[in-house]
Amino acid sequence: MITSINDCTTLNNGVKMPWFGLGVYKSQPGEEVETAVRLAIEHGYRSVDTAKLYNNEEGVGKAIRDSGIRREDIFVTTKVWNTDQGFDNTLKAFEASRKRLGMDYVDLYLIHWPGTRLYKETWKALEKLYKDGYVRAIGVSNFNIHHIETLLADCEFVPMVNQVEYHPRLTQTELLAYCKSHNIQFEAWSPLMRGQLLQDETIRRIADAHGKTPAQVILRWDLEHGVVTIPKSVRKERIQENADIFDFTLSSEEVAAIDALNRNERVGPDPDTFDF
Ligand SMILES: NC(=O)c1ccc[n+]([C@@H]2O[C@H](COP(=O)([O-])OP(=O)(O)OC[C@H]3O[C@@H](n4cnc5c(N)ncnc54)[C@H](OP(=O)(O)O)[C@@H]3O)[C@@H](O)[C@H]2O)c1
Repeated sequence: MITSINDCTTLNNGVKMPWFGLGVYKSQPGEEVETAVRLAIEHGYRSVDTAKLYNNEEGVGKAIRDSGIRREDIFVTTKVWNTDQGFDNTLKAFEASRKRLGMDYVDLYLIHWPGTRLYKETWKALEKLYKDGYVRAIGVSNFNIHHIETLLADCEFVPMVNQVEYHPRLTQTELLAYCKSHNIQFEAWSPLMRGQLLQDETIRRIADAHGKTPAQVILRWDLEHGVVTIPKSVRKERIQENADIFDFTLSSEEVAAIDALNRNERVGPDPDTFDF
């Protein structure tokens, strides 16, 4: 059972990754992201999820350096963007991300979206970065089963993580079961469906029963499913609220009631049809 913000999942290469972290998509570069990361670390967060696309890697790196927490005690994820895919481009993009973060290494490097043509070459570059010791773990994001199967057909390392859209309206049961059976850690993006689920009656009822908020119930539901979760906020009270999920559990009936809210509804693009 997950009972502390410090609890970690063990990835398929033995590296430990916190079950809970801060997302920073749309956190503005500079003061906004720096403050969010600083507040999160003060409230016990030890994992931050950024990407080249978010244009805030510098601020993430600065806030971590200024926090006084040792680098090895914070888990940092960043991602290679679609236009940087391919073997050589990915190596260059990684080096640029690493410099912007101001770090010797990154904990987890992900392929942000599969695209259609280059992700196998991109994966080879991630494998090289892993073998050369620049990243402690490598993984994918927005990969469906067929994308992962293509990689598995000829890869040296099975991805350690698949980060996908996941919330009570998009429960991705088949993909989740597939990742579990292949020892690929499943990670939820937009776990709060960007705030769209907080009025849901079922979630509110469960929240009231526990004296918790709807956001806390949704994030706890991720943990009950063995899913890493990285809610984003730039507001102190929400950063604190989202992390206060380690002193209660959901019953199997409550988990099932939330599972039943699935409508296969996305807030982001579909990995099989996106075109950017
Ligand atoms: N791999 C990918 O393709 C991908 C795609 C999307 C996101 N991500 C990652 O996943 C992270 C989380 O996803 P997300 O940012 O899209 O959405 P999210 O975490 O589901 O929701 C964030 C939104 O909800 C608000 N919020 C946060 N906590 C709240 C609370 N307790 N009560 C009410 N509202 C709350 C935030 O506003 P305030 O900031 O104003 O509090 C923000 O508008 C991202 O930041 C990013 O790191 C990855």
